[in-house]
Amino acid sequence: MLRSTLLFLSRQPRLFRFVRHNGFAKAMASRFVAGETIDSAVVAVQRLNDQGISASLDLLGESVTNEAEARAAGVEYVRLLDAIAQNTLDANVSVKLTAMGQDIGDDLCESIMRTILDRAQERGGFVRLDMEGSAYTTRTFDFFEKRLHPRYPDTVGIVLQSALRRTLADVERAIALNCRVRLCKGAYLEPADVAFPSKADVNRNYVACMKALMERGRYPGIATHDPAIISVATAFAAEKGIERSRFEFQMLYGVRRDLQEQLARDGYRLRVYVPFGTQWYPYLMRRLAERPANLVFMTGNILREFTGRRKGKGRRTA
Ligand code: FDA
Repeated sequence: MLRSTLLFLSRQPRLFRFVRHNGFAKAMASRFVAGETIDSAVVAVQRLNDQGISASLDLLGESVTNEAEARAAGVEYVRLLDAIAQNTLDANVSVKLTAMGQDIGDDLCESIMRTILDRAQERGGFVRLDMEGSAYTTRTFDFFEKRLHPRYPDTVGIVLQSALRRTLADVERAIALNCRVRLCKGAYLEPADVAFPSKADVNRNYVACMKALMERGRYPGIATHDPAIISVATAFAAEKGIERSRFEFQMLYGVRRDLQEQLARDGYRLRVYVPFGTQWYPYLMRRLAERPANLVFMTGNILREFTGRRKGKGRRTA
């Protein structure tokens, strides 16, 4: 119930305009979002790289409604790729097609994506297409398969969501294409005819998709914070003799930092998804919806820091 409410609130732009400059909401967002500018994102990635962790930078923004906005977002991504190269960061980028004009037209979206992919290719970078709600799955995969992958086979990859009933078939389609896949559970509220309503089924499907990708796929990104699934992945790799260089784990900025450090210390490849930008509100609400306990936990932390500062004792340790 709370999850549905938070996901509903994530789609209310008027509410975002209200909270955009609210200090409390911004403090909550700072746990999951690396600031509003490219410079702040660069600093966050440098800290991760210092711990041996790679990153994928996401300029927050979804569903633009006009061509000028879409083109401006594309220009920002090119600037981001330049910043990655100039600062010699170990990072790639993640892009949402709706932010690149997908709802306006495929030709516009393709021309913007080509500009980004040309620059990524020139810089030896990589671009991941995030996957949005199920209304976009077929369109995104078809667009990727027909318009982007043939031209940029080493530079662009896709995301699949184990919550969707269709995903095992999509995994086979991706393996046949020899394209790079990030596998996640899926962050969107979906109808039962397209997605598994039970978490146990989502997890079972995740493991089936993950094993297929690890054995036969091309450098899959195993994107989860679920310790049980991570244990299955490490045991499966050991059992099948799959080297650690053939896959990577991926996690979200600010989520299970303990597990992130542990995996990096244990010698697994780990990439952290680092979102930044002014459009942080829908992203924050999706993270809170995944774990509503965060709402209580973060409110408590912020209040503690706030009252600590007022008493002159508020010293942050990290
Ligand atoms: P699950 O939700 O079962 O959580 C497992 C455990 O992880 C929890 O018990 C808790 O300990 C911890 N945890 C999970 N979420 C947390 C949170 N928000 N705060 C604190 N703890 C939390 N989705 C999508 O639809 N399209 C996409 O393109 C992407 N891209 C993407 C990239 C990367 C790198 C990651 C890690 C995730 C995504 N996602 C995504 C989001 C994904 O679909 C999913 O919603 C979240 O990762 C949460 O699912 P878990 O696999 O972590 O499992």
